[in-house]
Amino acid sequence: LLITGNVMIDRRHLNEPYNVVMDDPGNLHAYRRWARAGQPDGTRAFVQLSHPGRQEQRSVSSRPIAPSAVRVRLLPGMFATPRAIAAKEIPELIARFARSAEIAAQGGFAGVQLHGAHGYLISQFLSPLTNLRDDDWGGRLANRAAFALEIIRAIRRRVPNGFAIAVKLNSADFQRGGFTEEESIEVARMLESEGIDLLELSGGTYETPVMFGVGATRESTLRREAYFLAHAQRLRAAVSVPLMLTGGFRTTDGMRRAVETRAVDVVGLARPLVFHDDLPARVLSGREAPAVPTSPRAGTRMDFAIDDYWHVQQIHQRAAGRPAHSRGMLRTLAGSLLTMSRWQLDRHRYRQGGPVPPAHEHEDRVR
Ligand SMILES: Cc1cc2nc3c(=O)[nH]c(=O)nc-3n(C[C@H](O)[C@H](O)[C@H](O)COP(=O)(O)O)c2cc1C
Repeated sequence: LLITGNVMIDRRHLNEPYNVVMDDPGNLHAYRRWARAGQPDGTRAFVQLSHPGRQEQRSVSSRPIAPSAVRVRLLPGMFATPRAIAAKEIPELIARFARSAEIAAQGGFAGVQLHGAHGYLISQFLSPLTNLRDDDWGGRLANRAAFALEIIRAIRRRVPNGFAIAVKLNSADFQRGGFTEEESIEVARMLESEGIDLLELSGGTYETPVMFGVGATRESTLRREAYFLAHAQRLRAAVSVPLMLTGGFRTTDGMRRAVETRAVDVVGLARPLVFHDDLPARVLSGREAPAVPTSPRAGTRMDFAIDDYWHVQQIHQRAAGRPAHSRGMLRTLAGSLLTMSRWQLDRHRYRQGGPVPPAHEHEDRVR
């Protein structure tokens, strides 16, 4: 199973420059090509549907929206204070998710995954730190979870039977006063009652990027490899929905243990696949997983951003048929600043009525 990265449901709100947006059936030919490329030999691909909510950098948009006007606190000036979404706008947002899922189905994908983790919009509705609403969408957990549940129901009404709906959920926000492990288990029960097909567990937000292993230094976590395995075990006792866990898996033994102890049904791999796309085949045949290069670390809260940019640049290398790079921190940052400036220029041209540059053209320039 391949799951895409964040695909936006609304072109006005991106979490990164050059995000793929799935809000226009007019682009179906491109989605069809993508679905075909991602589903060879019985592989299935899901589109990860997402909205950044407040986690939309100022350089991408200065008008983010969110459940409540609570700003992301990272570097000063990096994020604008979002506008609180009006109650009457919420049905439209739900319909946008459903429309994107319908486009994904028409494009030939096997399913969608709602990104309800990592501090994006659905996760912002779930967390009492970012959802301060006093209407039907805030307050008690059932209200905070209603946004996710209504999206699932709206998708079901628009996609054919057999089209999968998965959800990525945080085990916790890891923030005082945020979404807790107990709440995560409660929400998993609600999702199970909705009949979802797969639940992926992760954790953290831009402010607490534990999903990248930042802060994973405890002996017990290192021994288990997977960052959220203990939570998965607790959750497994509460629900029987197929469970996937992502974050930290590196060795065949670690993956085997997680599956054999029935803690999880599916092992999720992200960074290792950037270097070894035959990794699942190797692990399934019992061979050892090869070592994975790691990004430069500065030991600061921004490490996760460097880690992200560094891997994005590795992916561009792969796409260009080149070997892995060994860029340090400064070159990594310079590369991502360059991409951002090019995107600003492309966006400006697009707004002046110019064409959207084809993806391959962009990749050529990134190289
Ligand atoms: C370059 C990069 C891009 C990522 N993009 C996404 C994304 O779009 N959606 C998502 O859910 N997680 C994303 N992640 C997080 C991964 O899904 C995963 O949670 C994290 O890398 C930990 O798993 P790993 O140890 O197997 O890499 C991204 C990670 C990296 C390194």
